[in-house]
Amino acid sequence: MAIFGKDESGAAAQLDKERLPRHVAIIMDGNGRWAKKRGMPRTFGHKAGVEALREIIRHSDELGIEALTIYAFSCENWKRSAEEVGALMGLLLEYFTRELTELHRKNVRIRILGDIDGMPAGLEKQQQALHAAVERTAQNTGLKLNIALNYGGQQEIVRAAKNLAQKVVSGEIGADQIDAHMFEGELYTAGLPEVDLLIRTSGEMRLSNFLLYQLAYAEFYVTDTLWPDFGRDAYDEALLAYAKRNRRFGGV
Ligand code: FPP
Repeated sequence: MAIFGKDESGAAAQLDKERLPRHVAIIMDGNGRWAKKRGMPRTFGHKAGVEALREIIRHSDELGIEALTIYAFSCENWKRSAEEVGALMGLLLEYFTRELTELHRKNVRIRILGDIDGMPAGLEKQQQALHAAVERTAQNTGLKLNIALNYGGQQEIVRAAKNLAQKVVSGEIGADQIDAHMFEGELYTAGLPEVDLLIRTSGEMRLSNFLLYQLAYAEFYVTDTLWPDFGRDAYDEALLAYAKRNRRFGGV
């Protein structure tokens, strides 16, 4: 059954609630190029990127998607210029300051995937805002919004392995008890449904150290659209493309 009424057109009109992904992950790429095309500094693109993010969160919530995981800042992004990192951290703080009440009102549950406490000195306000957002929304039962920040997929896997090694050393578990289910319990995504769909904007064909474990059977959708231009219609197109996929999970 189509989700939307007769006023919707294009992909939205064809979306079938039964075939929506439970968990969507997004690599929001192309902010810099979007700004460059307009003769503007990269930070202008990131600002526009936050607006696009706001629209995609709102639409995920309207559609009833269970979990949305977005790649906001990787462990490797600290290599960018101090000016760009500063601008991104400023946007992050502004976002949580401005949006938290509204997200909470919408019953959104926020989680941060990544090492909040390992962020460089000088970002204490950001750390406090992130912890506060997680705590304030912890009991919410609506959209699960997961923000990957100071995140790396390899780092996450190593961290999980270390946690399990410590449990073996302390005698809490035996090494032979470790299986995929137990391993998943040590990842930042513990308890979330598996990722069904990965969207990457701006046409790049790489994972960039994002959710390396969790993407095992995810469907990929890559679009040339740059992130600030990725609105609800582009999102509907991606969801429709996903709905048409035949997922086999290694079977035939
Ligand atoms: C990739 O584009 C984008 C990022 C590294 C940052 C994404 C962050 C946001 C959209 C906003 C911050 C998030 C929150 C939660 C407020 P790029 O800069 O690599 O673009 P390029 O490949 O065109 O250079």
